[in-house]
Amino acid sequence: MIELEGLTKRYGTKTAVDHLSFQVRPGMITGFLGPNGAGKSTTMRMMLDLDNPTSGTVRIDGRHYRELDEPLKYIGALLDAKAMHGGRSAYNNLLCLAQSNRIPERRVGEVLDLVGLTAVARKRSKGFSLGMGQRLGIASALLGDPEILMFDEPVNGLDPEGIHWIRNLMKSLAAEGRTIFVSSHLMSEMALTADHLIVIGQGKLLADTSMADFILQNSRSFVRLRSPQQERLRDVLHGAGFTVVEAGNGTLEIDGASTEKLGELAAAHQLTLHELSPQRASLEEAFMQMTAGAVEYHAHGTDVHGGEPAASGPAWGANSGWDPAPGPEAGQSGEGV
Ligand SMILES: Nc1ncnc2c1ncn2[C@@H]1O[C@H](COP(=O)(O)OP(=O)(O)OP(=O)(O)O)[C@@H](O)[C@H]1O
Ligand SMILES: [Mg+2]
Repeated sequence: MIELEGLTKRYGTKTAVDHLSFQVRPGMITGFLGPNGAGKSTTMRMMLDLDNPTSGTVRIDGRHYRELDEPLKYIGALLDAKAMHGGRSAYNNLLCLAQSNRIPERRVGEVLDLVGLTAVARKRSKGFSLGMGQRLGIASALLGDPEILMFDEPVNGLDPEGIHWIRNLMKSLAAEGRTIFVSSHLMSEMALTADHLIVIGQGKLLADTSMADFILQNSRSFVRLRSPQQERLRDVLHGAGFTVVEAGNGTLEIDGASTEKLGELAAAHQLTLHELSPQRASLEEAFMQMTAGAVEYHAHGTDVHGGEPAASGPAWGANSGWDPAPGPEAGQSGEGV
């Protein structure tokens, strides 16, 4: 269990982490989510005593990091995959860590096997690809067989197979009762991985919720309609008491109605439809709305501050490829469609 109380970090006038209080509990994956610059890495560094808080505390199983006798056996972390000695082999990088932390050498072979690097164990790590580097970083986090594991953006730069592998690894570690704390700036990734969610923006806590609750509260469902007789269709819908949102490109969006009902209404008025489809606003969009006021770095010409969620293009995380269908919220409908 990790407990943060009023954790704050200021760099000059910049407040990177602002009175954060939350707990990271065992037996589950806690996702730590926030846009670029939100303070995720700074928080993680303070958890590991790599940075001093301006105020507030972090406790790991009730103790400060520096009070842990053999810290790698309590908490393993991947913060920066490049933080390895490039001239050393994967094996020797891990052996150094093991020897300086009183971890038996046989564990080096075990973790290399676990992360799939046995074949390149004797190769210098500076020649490793990004994905191999991430795997080596994960091996070092696992070296002390700790109960608590912390990963800062572990899927960055990984191919789909690598992402799938890390996701399953974290799930199996959590199923063993371990505490898993993993940061990301992609809601789509967290939706598939995390059981619990901590969201921060500009260093402040925005949400501390179970993933299931976040999904329930944030997946808006609606029906999208397109017609060559859009004006008439809109009048008919208004006349039937529906609230119609014009979503651009000639599409209309209607909340709280089924496709059957809308299709029949259009047919009764002899209106041609080119589209009649149930839709669900993505969790990525819900997350962007939540953090809209807290996004520091975004491209010009993109609208992070709203408009209709489904109408506005994502300002960041645009390439996240979130597809509502395979996500865990599939089947959890809000208003009936
Ligand atoms: N050593 C430092 N000196 C000054 N400012 C810093 C330092 N480290 C971080 N910051 C600032 O603190 C804020 C939080 O940075 P941090 O790296 O923790 O964010 P993050 O959530 O990890 O972002 P990202 O998703 O881009 O990794 C940023 O505005 C950053 O510029
Ligand atoms: Mg970071």
